Amino acid sequence: MAEKTLQKGFTLWFTGLSGSGKSTIAERVALKLERRGIPVEILDGDVVRTHLSKGLGFSREDRDENIKRVGFVCQILTRHGVAVIASVISPYREAREYNRQRIKHFVEVYTRCPVEVCEARDLKGLYQKARSGEIKGFTGVDDPYEPPLNPEVTCKTDVESVEESVEKVLQKLEDMGYLPP
Ligand code: ADX
Repeated sequence: MAEKTLQKGFTLWFTGLSGSGKSTIAERVALKLERRGIPVEILDGDVVRTHLSKGLGFSREDRDENIKRVGFVCQILTRHGVAVIASVISPYREAREYNRQRIKHFVEVYTRCPVEVCEARDLKGLYQKARSGEIKGFTGVDDPYEPPLNPEVTCKTDVESVEESVEKVLQKLEDMGYLPP
């Protein structure tokens, strides 16, 4: 019981291109945290957009609104000792900074991966649709992505294994005092 009340909430904010590994790493980190008895909640872009952000599109305005909503949920859960993991492209620096200012204990994780590699993976077949013009305004193809300038963690997912990236994130959480060593 005492342990639970001592648990410090934090938000791990994963940002990066579609297919850069955000959700894969986020899920593995979540599993590791859960095994340590930490309450975890994942807010994944694809899921959020079917509930909280249903009806929003991919204009800058709608993306910013999406990111603010996700940020709001992170803010309140973090306040109550949850390890919150957001996994959203969040292409605009300003919107990410907006959340950083509001969320206590904000840890930004940049899944850095060249667009060519994400495109070669094309897990959802969306890059192909973007290239053929079926989807317009796709991040990294014909819509911008502004990389973080000072992320707490950078996972170079084209050269690191998932396990290496997961370890980097957990190590940073330890270094920052959110996890016991
Ligand atoms: S964000 O820009 O608002 O942060 P979010 O992470 O919620 O995006 O959703 C991104 C997901 O929506 C992608 O992984 C992809 O599956 C899907 N998607 C559909 N259209 C687009 C688009 N134009 N740009 C980027 N992702 C898109």
